[in-house]
Amino acid sequence: MKLLGKEFSKGKKVLNDPAFKDAQEKSRSELNKRPTRTDIINYLLSKLNRQTTYLEIGVRNPNDNHAHIKADKKYGVDPGVEFKDNPVSFQLTSDDFFTKLDKGEILDKGILFDVVFIDGLHLAEQVDRDIINCLRYLKDDGFIVMHDCSPPTEWHARENYAYKHSPAGVYWNGTTWKAFVKWRHENSVHSCCIDTDWGVGVIAKNYAIGNSITGPSTNPFYEFDVLDKDRKTYLNLMKFEDFKAIIDKALPGN
Ligand SMILES: C[S@@+](CC[C@H](N)C(=O)[O-])C[C@H]1O[C@@H](n2cnc3c(N)ncnc32)[C@H](O)[C@@H]1O
Repeated sequence: MKLLGKEFSKGKKVLNDPAFKDAQEKSRSELNKRPTRTDIINYLLSKLNRQTTYLEIGVRNPNDNHAHIKADKKYGVDPGVEFKDNPVSFQLTSDDFFTKLDKGEILDKGILFDVVFIDGLHLAEQVDRDIINCLRYLKDDGFIVMHDCSPPTEWHARENYAYKHSPAGVYWNGTTWKAFVKWRHENSVHSCCIDTDWGVGVIAKNYAIGNSITGPSTNPFYEFDVLDKDRKTYLNLMKFEDFKAIIDKALPGN
């Protein structure tokens, strides 16, 4: 511990550390990747070629994504942890939102969404619950889109959002990837992760966007290094062009 303290007091030494440089380079690279999550959500909504209803779990500042989404009806859920103004339809946690929806206290109990964007609390257990709940309210030909599924380093994949002195600095993907990988093993859905904007995960009930992982898990303890060595298998990581080719074939003419 004493040594660690000394290292941190020598700022330059830390910045020259290969792990710091690597993480900083990877953050920069991720920020420059295109398309963005917003482009991907709008692409999917446009492919459905009908009146669409969109739900975003975790909105923060709507100008970053929600305001730019092109859907006929849009809803946002956020308890206002990060952005105090919190101008969303439902100032609730996602758990409370689904409880109220189940009880028929908000919206129409039979509502089904075309696209749901999961970007709320980035901890695996919560994200897993969000996926389960969203699937219940997703149209059969709809899509779940998830942010932050491909953290570039273990520092980005830390559990503690508030800690900013790791090589990832302010950037945080949390442990969303673990929930996504769990669902990659579920054969009732198809899934893939687009290699852009920190990993944009997509889950579909009906479109063959990626086969699930069969057999027992080869990463039962969700070790980051195991993920990192084979993102193709664990995330079905693919380029947007390849994803687009699959969707354009499944939904031609839109
Ligand atoms: C990463 S931000 C969302 C960013 C936004 N979706 C975008 O694309 O720019 C995460 C948001 O999730 C919210 N949040 C935290 N806990 C939540 C929970 N339990 N349910 C829903 N949202 C939550 C935070 O308040 C924060 O505004």
